[in-house]
Amino acid sequence: MDLRYTDAVPSDAEREAVDALLGSPPSGWEGGTERTDEDLRWARGGAAAAKDRRDQLLPALHTVNDRVGWISEGALNYICRRLTVAPAEAYGVATFYAMFSVRPRPAKVLHVCTDLACAARGSAAVSADLTDRLGPPGTPAEGAVWQESPCLGLCERAPAALLLQAGPEAPSGPDGTAAGDAPRHCAVVAPATAPALVAAARSPRDAPAEPSAAVAVPQAGDPALVLLRRVGTVDPESLDDYRATGGYSALRRAFALGPAGVIREVLDAGLVGRGGAAFPTGRKWQATAQQADGPHYLVCNADESEPGTFKDRVLMEGDPYALIEAMTIAGYAIGAQQGYIYLRGEYPRAYERLSRALTGARTRGLLGPDVLGQGYAFDIEIRRGAGAYICGEETAIFNSIEGQRGEPRSKPPFPVEKGLFGKPTAVNNVETLVNVLPILEHGAAAYAATGTETSTGTKLFCVSGQVARPGVYELPFGANLRELLDLAGPPERLRAVLLGGAAGGFVRPDELDVPLTFEGTRAAGTTLGSGVVLVLDDSVELPRVLLRIAEFFRDESCGQCVPCRVGTVRQEEALHRIVDRTGAAADEDIALMREVGQAMRDASICGLGQTAWNAVESAIDRLGVYK
Ligand code: SF4
Ligand code: FES
Repeated sequence: MDLRYTDAVPSDAEREAVDALLGSPPSGWEGGTERTDEDLRWARGGAAAAKDRRDQLLPALHTVNDRVGWISEGALNYICRRLTVAPAEAYGVATFYAMFSVRPRPAKVLHVCTDLACAARGSAAVSADLTDRLGPPGTPAEGAVWQESPCLGLCERAPAALLLQAGPEAPSGPDGTAAGDAPRHCAVVAPATAPALVAAARSPRDAPAEPSAAVAVPQAGDPALVLLRRVGTVDPESLDDYRATGGYSALRRAFALGPAGVIREVLDAGLVGRGGAAFPTGRKWQATAQQADGPHYLVCNADESEPGTFKDRVLMEGDPYALIEAMTIAGYAIGAQQGYIYLRGEYPRAYERLSRALTGARTRGLLGPDVLGQGYAFDIEIRRGAGAYICGEETAIFNSIEGQRGEPRSKPPFPVEKGLFGKPTAVNNVETLVNVLPILEHGAAAYAATGTETSTGTKLFCVSGQVARPGVYELPFGANLRELLDLAGPPERLRAVLLGGAAGGFVRPDELDVPLTFEGTRAAGTTLGSGVVLVLDDSVELPRVLLRIAEFFRDESCGQCVPCRVGTVRQEEALHRIVDRTGAAADEDIALMREVGQAMRDASICGLGQTAWNAVESAIDRLGVYK
């Protein structure tokens, strides 16, 4: 790809896809096929207009990728002309995301997860078998191409795979088939076997339907559940079901309390963020609400891509209206009229469910210019990520939505002062937001009565790996790891548990009494992170697990700061050298990794670099992996 405008033109399908998103080109300067006399007389657009449209870059790349399967030079040219973006910049954005390709590839792309939970349940054998049948990753076969993928957020059904087929949005033509090419489709194959993957690659529409989200909730139907209470018991597509089970009573109470009253309740409830940082949600909302600058924005971080995490997917698929109601309350509290859900690109079913729920809420006056007749205007837009772990970092989300590469920003300024589009923004993840509903439904005191003094309420845990009943579990804060594992059915010969995902740490089988609270895990020298509980038995080769973690961080580092960009590479190299060594033969490389790890921790600008050494360090120090 040349990094300037070239003579390449888009195909009809690419042009149609972009025009369906952006409308027809208003002039010859912005992608119109001819320049009219009027175009030649008047200059329009300019830097200000280009800035206003830049946030359409990621959706425009998505729309071409969804339609054709990859982004050609002609399509990129056209998008750049439509949005007045320099081709070099658009190329930089398109190549930042793993789900896009700027090289030709088949319309069907099969993503086969080889990450931690899937590796623990046999993904290596699936990949090897698939290589025998279809050739190595990247080889077109059966009209598809397969590639290895980081965690797809389907860990409870590991090993997992996701097939995405590009094509026109809806079937057309008299017999229900698309006129030219096959319509867009996606298929989840989990647990995956090579024969099932080959069949799905041949004919995605004939792949077995995905089971209900409730399959991921072994406790489904338990009256003690709070956050998961509707998953598996109501129709997630039905607003009537949602309202019949208490839906929208929290929003009514929020209107009765007023914005300051809502923030007071959330503060009194002691709610802290569930994404890993455990920052008090009420303080974040208060700081955003107090900013004089405007408009204010609310961003829901639904880009859960920490390997082993899938709870937000289950909430969004199983109870989408809960997130919409909770966001409406949060928007009201902080004085925002626009909210964004930044959703993982690998979550097509959550996207569908949320899109339908947003339409349903708008139709019934629960979103829009006058929510519930209270004179409050609020709406929500979904922005899809495209396969970049780093976009789970709150400031990287801003850049991604704004149409820049999804690289984290230096802080300060903090998002509550200058966030999305440079305006005050509150960012909360899905689980955090959904906790606001029981707080308003039952009051702060009732909410805070569950859990411990500093970790209030309940917590979702994503249990995967070698357990009998993997899935999302909801427990009051204060339960310990042993109690959680007893519910999930631990293996007979437990070797280790990875808490908090790739950015977390390992604990030993003799440490299962660690309380699953923020303070309890901190005191034990580990972390709750986003709630990952990956269980490994003694059949697992831990040095290879560590290599996978190191490879993940090396791959996902955005590369803008040296300690992380170089450190993650050095860490992986050292782990490769000692993968089969122990004792003195590993000492030198372990010492090197300690030094590199400390530099990453001290000098990286975001959490990725700061935590990239955590799991490896805990495996060396707690599990004695190389002894
Ligand atoms: S720490 Fe790593 S991921 Fe974070 S900004 Fe620096 S290079 Fe990017
Ligand atoms: S889906 Fe494979 S590790 Fe999560």
